[in-house]
Amino acid sequence: MKNAATHKSGPETLAPGLPSGSRLPAHIAIIMDGNGRWAEKRLMPRSFGHKQGAEAVRRTVEAAVEIGLPYLTLFAFSSENWKRPVDEVNDLMWLLRSYLRKEMAALHRQGVRIQFIGARHSLAADLVGLIEEAETLTAQNQRLVFTIAVSYGGQDDIVEAARSLARRVAAGELDPDTIDSDLFAAALSTRGIPDPDLVIRTSGEQRLSNFMLWQSAYSELVFVDTLWPDFARQDLERAITVFAGRDRRFGGTGAV
Ligand code: FPP
Repeated sequence: MKNAATHKSGPETLAPGLPSGSRLPAHIAIIMDGNGRWAEKRLMPRSFGHKQGAEAVRRTVEAAVEIGLPYLTLFAFSSENWKRPVDEVNDLMWLLRSYLRKEMAALHRQGVRIQFIGARHSLAADLVGLIEEAETLTAQNQRLVFTIAVSYGGQDDIVEAARSLARRVAAGELDPDTIDSDLFAAALSTRGIPDPDLVIRTSGEQRLSNFMLWQSAYSELVFVDTLWPDFARQDLERAITVFAGRDRRFGGTGAV
């Protein structure tokens, strides 16, 4: 898939919460942050924050479908999140299972294609089974491509791509001089998905935390203070409105 410079914008939107005629980003990627703080503010366990975070996932996907967004990616579990206490890791894995079991059929009916990126070999076999079931069931859907990043790290993604190209060079199948950024992008786990036009991070933190490092080279970054469990359609629309007001030059001057 070509990089962001060839995907300047998505469809024109008629969604009521957005300025009419404004161009939607083709791909929004979200770093969902703040579940723990949301729960702590309510003197509740972190697991409660994650549970409400899963509700925010459901709402956000629904909003993305209604708005007419073509691609949505959510960062559900990073390669570094394995360092969390085992109970919290287990809670998050159970939420993923429960989300897939509950939502897979409804998302399929709405024309959502579900896919996963990340180190699935590090996940439990039954979860991988559910992931494969969701991917197979929804493979032909085209309304929204919904990618969930689990056990995902941007650096790992780049290392794995470099390794697969190196193997092809070593096998004599690939001339190293033909490796360019398009070929490299096609070796990443996100092949087939345009680079995110807009990356949103919730909870007021302003960093990428190893998310889509290659793919976000020209993404617009929008940081919102809302904690993820509170994230609602209005927050998504506000971020899209901020995006629509940005001047994207992709390293050029903006003059055609
Ligand atoms: C960050 O908040 C959030 C996560 C590490 C997990 C995100 C997971 C979900 C929203 C639920 C399950 C996902 C799906 C797709 C159903 P944090 O725990 O780091 O919050 P904190 O920074 O306030 O501690």
